[in-house]
Amino acid sequence: MNTRELPVVPDRRTVESAVALACRAPSLHNSQPWRWVMGTSLRLYSDPDRLLPATDAFGRQMVISCGAALNHLEHAFAANRWRPVIERLPRSSDRQLLSTIGFVAPPTPTPTDFVARMAAAIERRRTERLPLDAPSAWRDTLEELVRITAGTGVELEDLGERSRPALEGASRRMTGLRHDNPTYQAELRWWSGRGLFPDGVPEQARPSDSQQHSVHLSREFPPGRASTPDGSPSEDRAAILLLSTSTDSRLDWLRSGEALSAVLLACTDRGLATCPVTHLTERAATRTMLRELSSGDGMPQVLIRVGAGTGVGEPSPTPRRPLSEVLVRERPAPGNLSGE
Ligand SMILES: Cc1cc2nc3c(=O)[nH]c(=O)nc-3n(C[C@H](O)[C@H](O)[C@H](O)COP(=O)(O)O)c2cc1C
Repeated sequence: MNTRELPVVPDRRTVESAVALACRAPSLHNSQPWRWVMGTSLRLYSDPDRLLPATDAFGRQMVISCGAALNHLEHAFAANRWRPVIERLPRSSDRQLLSTIGFVAPPTPTPTDFVARMAAAIERRRTERLPLDAPSAWRDTLEELVRITAGTGVELEDLGERSRPALEGASRRMTGLRHDNPTYQAELRWWSGRGLFPDGVPEQARPSDSQQHSVHLSREFPPGRASTPDGSPSEDRAAILLLSTSTDSRLDWLRSGEALSAVLLACTDRGLATCPVTHLTERAATRTMLRELSSGDGMPQVLIRVGAGTGVGEPSPTPRRPLSEVLVRERPAPGNLSGE
């Protein structure tokens, strides 16, 4: 770039609306562990104040959550005719810096039908924790999901019905072990339904007491209010996907979050309900078990249940922190003010 040429940046409204949509991304316990800084480019940082140490000691899921927000952001800008140029883990003394997002000068092509549909799916996507029916046209959907994740460095695999008994058994054992872990339980309660703050997993998104145990492959939350239409527990027939990566670096985590977002949005677009499931990736032993169930030998990052929803209707969206808390404008260094 010519040194006198100014970097191309979208106007404030475009940035704000894209970041607001990006913040609709899923995150561990709705912790929303991201921070955005707008300067000559947009930068995405993880927010270590929002780390869940008893659940996610190394911040793996914190970075995955930020990766999901990054993928949401890409769709949000593209639907607005801005093409973001994403640099992942740029060289920096700040370990929390995950991505620098520059822009290609407009005009960029009119959004394709796919881009528009993915952006539209952002507002409709929810995490669905009730039992799901088997997804229809699954082979077709799976082919699309494999296509979407190809070349991202993240492997997607359908673990199939054969894996269900082992997964459900491991999930039950993990839940039992965690009953005896007061630090984990305290953290879970802290992020469950406080209602006062725009984060955490609210009551309406958590299965009721009577339905809590009808999905055997799930993280146990304090009981909430979500229930199937007749209140009766039904059997979970969701397909079970595994995202894994060949190594376990921060870049793998970021990429896993991006792939997770892409998969969830594509499923939402097809009218399918989804639920990321990660408690089995939080201990070395269960992670090894997931690895053994998989046909590859990658590092398991996230499981995803995908199926047909219960017909309860769309649950109301979970809350998000206000934009003013997560997006800040960079103040130029004093020495740079004279050139403005
Ligand atoms: C890295 C990650 C891990 C998650 N793990 C679980 C999980 O184990 N169980 C679950 O029910 N939801 C899980 N979720 C979903 C979040 O709880 C959910 O995204 C958050 O509460 C916001 O709600 P929403 O997805 O409906 O917008 C996870 C999401 C992410 C990104």
